[in-house]
Amino acid sequence: MVRTQDGRNGPLLVTGGAGFIGSNFVLRHLRDQSAGPVVTLDALTYAGNPHNLDALAADPRHTLVQGDILDRDLLRQLLRDHRPRAVVHFAAESHVDRSILGPGAFLKTNIDGTFHLLECAREFYGTLQGEEREQFRFLHVSTDEVYGTLEPGDPAFHENTPFAPNSPYAASKASSDHLVRAWHHTYRLPTLITNCSNNYGPFQFPEKLIPLVIGNALAGKPLPVYGDGQQVRDWLYVEDHCSAIETVLARGTVGETYNVGGNNQQANLHVVETICALLDELAPANRSYAEQITFVTDRPGHDRRYAIDARKIQRELQWFPTQDFASGLRQTVQWYLDHQSWVENVTSGAYRDWIDTNYGDRTSGAKTPAETVAR
Ligand code: NAD
Ligand code: TYD
Repeated sequence: MVRTQDGRNGPLLVTGGAGFIGSNFVLRHLRDQSAGPVVTLDALTYAGNPHNLDALAADPRHTLVQGDILDRDLLRQLLRDHRPRAVVHFAAESHVDRSILGPGAFLKTNIDGTFHLLECAREFYGTLQGEEREQFRFLHVSTDEVYGTLEPGDPAFHENTPFAPNSPYAASKASSDHLVRAWHHTYRLPTLITNCSNNYGPFQFPEKLIPLVIGNALAGKPLPVYGDGQQVRDWLYVEDHCSAIETVLARGTVGETYNVGGNNQQANLHVVETICALLDELAPANRSYAEQITFVTDRPGHDRRYAIDARKIQRELQWFPTQDFASGLRQTVQWYLDHQSWVENVTSGAYRDWIDTNYGDRTSGAKTPAETVAR
C-alpha cells in the first residue's frame, strides 16, 4: 500500500476494530475524507461483528481481515503489506463477568496476544527508516480497572496510581500494560497507552450493563442490579474515547500513559433508573420500566468505585469530552431503539447460553426495589 506524503494520513492497523469501541473508532476515523486507509484485524469472536462496519462496505480505504492477534505469520504479513504508520490495539476479551467464569481466554488474548503483537511491531519497526520510523506508533487501549477499586472519598485514579487489578480481566489488562511499558523501556518501541473509564454508546454488546438493561426492559425481563447497586463507574461516551485516542496518537509523548474519562461518576442503580426514565419517555409501556429492576447476587470481588483523573490529557493534549451523560445516554437509548435488528442479530444462541450461565444462579434470591426497602 502506498503511503501518503503526509504521515498523519498514513495507514492504520486496528486490532479489534469490529468490536464496540474499535468499530466506533474506525467509523469515526474514516468519516474524515482526508484520512488514510485502515486495516481492521479482528478474530470476530462473539463480541466482534463485521456488520458494525457495514457503512464502510463501499469505502476502498477500509479492509477487514478476520484473524487472530496470536497469529504471528498473519501479523507479519499485514505489517509488511500495509506498512501502517500506527498499530491501534483494541483487541481483547473485555467482559469482567466472563473473566470470572473463564479466565483462560483473557490471559491468552489480552496477555499473549499483546505480546505477539508487540514482538511483530518491534520487528517491523526495526525495518523502518527516516520519516516512517519517526512517525511509527503502537497505541495500546487499556482500562481504568488496572488501578483496582476506590473508597467513596478517595482521589480519582491518576497515571501514577499503583496497579491493583482485582478481576481476571483487570489483571490481564494490567499485565498487557506492563508488557507495553517494558517494550518501550527495553526496545524503545514508540508506544502510547490510554487507560479509559467505562464506555457506553452504539454497538456495545448487550452483555454490558447499559445495553443489557435497555434490551431487557424492552423485552419485559428483569433488570439485574448486582448487590446494592451503589457501585460507582465513571461513564464516557464512546465517541469521546475515540477522539481521545486520535488525540494521543497525533500528539501524545512516546512512552507515556494517558488516563481518559468524563468526570462523570454514577452509581449503577442511578444509571439503571435513568435508562428506565428515558425509556418511559421514548418507548412508553403501560407501566414504568423501573418496576422491572431486580437486585441479584453480587459479582465476586466487585470493585466498588472507579474514578478517573483526566487532567493530564486535558492539560498536555487539550482533549476534552463533548457529551455529558444526559445527552450521551439519551442518544444511546435512542440508538438501541432504532437498531433492534442489530441487537437481535448479535443475541444468538451463544448469547442466550451466556445469559443463562451468568444470571441463572444469581436470580434465585432476587428482590425488586420495593421488596428490598421492605426488608
Ligand atoms: P469488545 O469485547 O466489544 O471488542 C473486542 C474485539 O476484539 C472484538 O471485536 C473481538 O472479536 C476482538 N478480539 C477478541 N479476541 C481477539 C483476538 N485474539 N484477535 C483478534 N481480535 C480479537 O471490547 P470493547 O469494549 O470494544 O473494548 C475494546 C478495548 O478497549 C479493550 O482492549 C478493552 O480492554 C478496552 N476498554 C474498554 C472499555 C469499555 O468500557 N468497554 C473501557 C476502557 C478500555
Ligand atoms: P459492566 O458493563 O460489565 O462493566 P465493568 O464491569 O467493566 O465496569 O458493568 C458495569 C457495572 O454494572 C458494574 O459495576 C457491574 C454492574 N452490572 C450490574 O449491576 N448488572 C449487570 O447485569 C451487569 C452486566 C453489570
